[in-house]
Amino acid sequence: MKLGDPRKKSGWVMLQVLLLHLLVQSVHSQNSRNKLNITNPGQSIPGLAVQLRRVSNEKVVVDNGIIQVTFSSPQGLITGIKYNGIDNVLDDEIDDRGYWDVVWYEPEKALEIDKLEGTKFEIITQNEEQVEISFTRTWTISKRGSLVPLNVDKRYIIRTGVSGIYMYGILERLEGWPDVDMDQIRIVFKLNPKKFDFMAISDDRQRSMPSMADRDNAKILAYKEAVLLTNPKNPMFKGEVDDKYMYSMEDKDNNVHGWISSDPPVGFWMITPSDEFRLGGPIKQDLTSHAGPITLSMFTSTHYAGKEMRMDYRNGEPWKKVFGPVLAYLNSVSPKDSTLRLWKDAKRQMAEEVRSWPYDFVNSEDYPLSHQRGTIEGQLYIKDRYVSRLNIYGKFAFVGLAPCGEAGSWQTESKGYQFWTKADRKGRFIIENVRAGNYSLYSWGYGFIGDYKYEQNITITPGSQMNVGPLVYEPPRNGPTLWEIGVPDRTAGEFYIPDPYPTLMNKLYVNPLQDRFRQYGLWDRYADLYPQNDLVYTVGVSDYKRDWFFAHVTRNVGNNTYDSTTWQIIFNLENVNRVGLYTLRIALASAADSELQVRVNNPKSDHIFTTGLIGKDNAIARHGIHGLYRLYSINVAGDLLSVGDNTIYLTQSRSVGPFQGVMYDYIRLESPFTT
Ligand SMILES: *[C@@H]1O[C@H](CO)[C@@H](O)[C@H](O)[C@H]1NC(C)=O
Ligand SMILES: *[C@@H]1O[C@H](CO)[C@@H](O)[C@H](O)[C@H]1NC(C)=O
Ligand SMILES: *[C@@H]1O[C@H](CO)[C@@H](O)[C@H](O)[C@H]1NC(C)=O
Ligand SMILES: *[C@@H]1O[C@H](CO)[C@@H](O)[C@H](O)[C@H]1NC(C)=O
Repeated sequence: MKLGDPRKKSGWVMLQVLLLHLLVQSVHSQNSRNKLNITNPGQSIPGLAVQLRRVSNEKVVVDNGIIQVTFSSPQGLITGIKYNGIDNVLDDEIDDRGYWDVVWYEPEKALEIDKLEGTKFEIITQNEEQVEISFTRTWTISKRGSLVPLNVDKRYIIRTGVSGIYMYGILERLEGWPDVDMDQIRIVFKLNPKKFDFMAISDDRQRSMPSMADRDNAKILAYKEAVLLTNPKNPMFKGEVDDKYMYSMEDKDNNVHGWISSDPPVGFWMITPSDEFRLGGPIKQDLTSHAGPITLSMFTSTHYAGKEMRMDYRNGEPWKKVFGPVLAYLNSVSPKDSTLRLWKDAKRQMAEEVRSWPYDFVNSEDYPLSHQRGTIEGQLYIKDRYVSRLNIYGKFAFVGLAPCGEAGSWQTESKGYQFWTKADRKGRFIIENVRAGNYSLYSWGYGFIGDYKYEQNITITPGSQMNVGPLVYEPPRNGPTLWEIGVPDRTAGEFYIPDPYPTLMNKLYVNPLQDRFRQYGLWDRYADLYPQNDLVYTVGVSDYKRDWFFAHVTRNVGNNTYDSTTWQIIFNLENVNRVGLYTLRIALASAADSELQVRVNNPKSDHIFTTGLIGKDNAIARHGIHGLYRLYSINVAGDLLSVGDNTIYLTQSRSVGPFQGVMYDYIRLESPFTT
C-alpha cells in the first residue's frame, strides 16, 4: 500500500476527496433508507434484521446479516466476529481477544487485573432494529481481594444495518465498600494477525506494522515496551524501533483508530464518539492501537500523568459511571479498491457517530438521552493589561465542565464526566449534551498562562439551557514582560527536538511536521549535544526553536551513570529596581521524578525556589511532548539583579536514570508593577 503525503495534497486532490465524501455520504443515506425499510413491521427483509441465538449455555450469537458476533456467556467476552469472508477477525489462537479489564488493588497490596467476567446473561432489548444484551456481575464481601469491588454491567448493542458492535459498561461501587485504587479501565481487541498488518490512527500516522512474533525476536531497549526489530519476518522493518507509546494520542483527537487487512480488504476500527466518559480533560494522552495487532479503547489510565490520575476510593465512597458506548466498526471495499478508502470510510462513520451523540437507542436509565441533558454557553475574555488595554477574546480557548474543584483540577480528575469544547475566535462557546449534575466551569488556552474557573458552581438539569454571559479570565501577571521563552500551550513542542539516532528510528516519524518527538531515545541526544557544559540560553540572541532542548533531562555520562544538569538563561538589564519584586513564571509541560531549583546570579548560592519532588508522568520515556501542567510564580527580589548581564540557573537536581527531567512549556520574567 502506498501512502500519499497528505500535506502535499493539491487542490484537485482535495476536490476529489470531497467528491468521494459526498459519494460515500449518498451511499450511506441510501443505506439509512433501507434501514428504515427493514424496521418497518411486516416489511422486514428476511435475514437482514438483527437476530439473537443462544447457541448453548456457554455461547450467544448475534447476527445482523453483516456481522456475526459470538459472546461467551455469562462472561460476556467477545470470542468471535465473522465479517466479509473472514471467519474470525479476532485472534482465534488466544483466549483473551475481545474483553474489558481493570487494573486495581487494595491500597498497599499487589496489583491485580480483573477481566470483569459476568455471571449472568440478560437480553435488554430484542427487536428487528437492534439487540441489546447485558452481562452482569454483583460484588459481595466474600469476593474481597479476588475481584475488583465493583458491580459490573457490560452491554453490547448490535443494530440492523450497522456494521459494528456498540459497547458500554456501567460500573458501580456502593457506599461502605472497601478501599480500592484503579489505575486503568479499558476494552481490548486482539485481531487476527494473519490478516491485519496495516495500522491507521490519524491522517498522518499510518503504517505497515511489525508482528508480535517480530517483537518477540527483537532486542529489548531501555524498557520492555520498546524493542529494536533485529529479525523481523518482513526485512523492511529491520533496524526500526517499535513501542506502543509511539502511537499515543491526546483524547480530544482519539476518535477513530484501527487496523486494515489487505486480503480481504477489511478494516477494524475503534470509534469513540464522545470524550465525556474519559478522564483528565481533552489533552490527556493515551494508547490507541499497536503491534499485536491490538486495538484499545482506553477509558481511564495513569499514562502520561502518574498516580495523581488514578481513581482511588476511601472511606466507603460510593461511585457509579457509564463508560461508552464506543463502537467497534468493521468495513470493507472491493479488492479492486484502495484499502485507504477503509480509513476514509472509518472517519466518515466516526463523524456520523459524533453527530448521533448522545445515542437515542441505548437502553439504560444510567445513560441520559438528549432531552435529559442540558446546554451551557457564554463568551470568554482575557484581561491582561500588559498585553492589551482592552479585554481580548479568549480565542480558541478550551472551555469545559468537570466535577467541582479548584481551577485546573480537571486535569487529574478521574471519577466523573467532563464536557469540553473549544471557543471560537471571539471566545464564544457552547457546550451541549451535558449530563445533569453539578460542575465547575473551567478554561485555559493557547497564548495565556494558568487556569480559569468560574466562581459559581454550575448545575445542569434535564433540558436546561444556561447562558453564563461574558466571563473574564485574568491570567497571573505582576508587571510587564522583560523576556519570555516559548509559547504558553502546555507542550514543549515548539522547542528544539533533535534528530533520532539513525539506528533507533521509527520511519513513520522521520519527516513529519508535528511528530518528531515520538522517536525513541531523544533523551540521550542531550549528552551528544551538550557533552561537557549544559545548555546556555541568551535572551535576544538565542532562538528557543533551535537553542532550547525540548526536555531538561539528566546527562548520560556512561557506565549507567547520570549527572544532574543546570541550564542558564542569560539576560541583560539596562536598569534594575532594587527594591522591587520581579516575577519569574515557569510553566512546566511535564515532570518525572524531578526537582527543579532556581538560583539567580550565583550558581553556588541557596536556591530561591524549588519545586520539591514532582512528577510521575513519564512523558520523556513515553515520547509524549507533555504530561501534566504545572505553573510556578516565583518572586525574584530586585537586589539579586544587576545592571548588565544576569543569569538564572535552572537545576534539575535528581539524576538516578535517563527518564528523569522536566519539560518546559513557557518561561517569563516580569518586572515589578509599573503604572
Ligand atoms: C422500501 O425500499 C424500497 C426500495 O428502496 C422502496 O421502493 C420502497 O418504497 C420502500 N418502502 C417503504 C415503506 O419505505
Ligand atoms: C447539586 O447541588 C445542589 C445544591 O448544592 C444539590 O442540592 C444537588 O443535590 C446537587 N446535585 C447533584 C446531582 O449532585
Ligand atoms: C460548589 O460545590 C462544591 C461541591 O459540592 C462545594 O463544596 C462548594 O461549596 C460549592 N461552591 C459554591 C460557590 O457554591
Ligand atoms: C563503572 O562502574 C563500576 C562500578 O561502579 C566501576 O568498577 C568501573 O570502574 C566503572 N568503569 C568506568 C569505565 O568508569
